[in-house]
Amino acid sequence: MLTLDNVHTYYGKSHILHGVSIEVGAGEVVGLLGRNGVGKSTTLKTVMGLVRPSEGSVTFEGREIGGMAAHHVAHLGIAWVPEDRRIFRLLTVMENLRTGLDRPGVTEAGRTALLDKIYASFPVLAERRNQAGGTLSGGEQQMLAIARAMMLEPKIILLDEPTEGLMPRMVSQIREIIEVLHRDGVAILLVEQNVPLTLEASERVYIMEKGVVRHHAPAADLRANHAVIHQYLGV
Ligand SMILES: Nc1ncnc2c1ncn2[C@@H]1O[C@H](COP(=O)(O)OP(=O)(O)OP(=O)(O)O)[C@@H](O)[C@H]1O
Ligand SMILES: [Mg+2]
Repeated sequence: MLTLDNVHTYYGKSHILHGVSIEVGAGEVVGLLGRNGVGKSTTLKTVMGLVRPSEGSVTFEGREIGGMAAHHVAHLGIAWVPEDRRIFRLLTVMENLRTGLDRPGVTEAGRTALLDKIYASFPVLAERRNQAGGTLSGGEQQMLAIARAMMLEPKIILLDEPTEGLMPRMVSQIREIIEVLHRDGVAILLVEQNVPLTLEASERVYIMEKGVVRHHAPAADLRANHAVIHQYLGV
C-alpha cells in the first residue's frame, strides 16, 4: 500500500536519507527501529510531504506522492502523529478531537459515531473531554494525538516514537491502542526505540542506520535472534 523505493532526502546540503526502501501492506503493522539521528523521523516526514525526496519514489496505493503537499497526502488517508505530538494545549480534549472532524463528507451522525468510538477506546479522554489539552499528562497527550489522527479515519498511521518518555503503564496502553487499530484494519508504520514493544506489536521490522535500512525481517525472526538487534541497536 505504502512503498518507499530508494528514497534520498536532504536538509539543505546535508544528505540524510541515502536510498531508503520500505513497504507497508494494507492493514499491516510495520516497525522502524534505529538509534537517535539515523533518519527515522525524516523518513516519516518524507512520506507526509514535509520534505521532498531528491531521488527515489514514494507511492501510496499505486500513486506517486513524493513531494505532494502534506494536506493532499493526509487527504489520501495517511495520518501522522509527530514526535512532539502537537496537540492544541489551550483547546479542550473534545475540541482537539473535533479538529479531525472538520472535513467534507462527514455527516453529523458520522461525527458522533466516530467520537463515541474514540471515547470507547480511550476512556481517559472521555473523562477529560472538557479539560484543556495542555493540562493532560504526557501519556494522555500522546493518546490524544493518536485519537485525533484516528478521527481522520486514515488507512495508515505513521507513529513517531509514541512511547517515548512514558511510564510502563502508559506504554502498555499505547500497545493496546496499536492492537485496536490493527484489528480495525488500519496499517501502522511504527517508529520506535522501544525494541520489545516494537517486536511484539509489529509483523515486520526494518532497522535503520545512518540514513539507510540495514536489516529487514519478520518480527518473529528478530524475537528469536537477538544478535541482529544487538548489532544494530546495541541493546
Ligand atoms: N530540519 C532539519 N535541518 C537540518 N538537519 C536536520 C533537520 N531535522 C533533522 N536533521 C538531521 O537529520 C538527521 C536525521 O534526523 P531524524 O530526526 O530523522 O532522526 P531520528 O532517527 O528520527 O532520530 P531520533 O531518534 O533522535 O528522533 C539528524 O542528523 C538530524 O540532526
Ligand atoms: Mg525522530
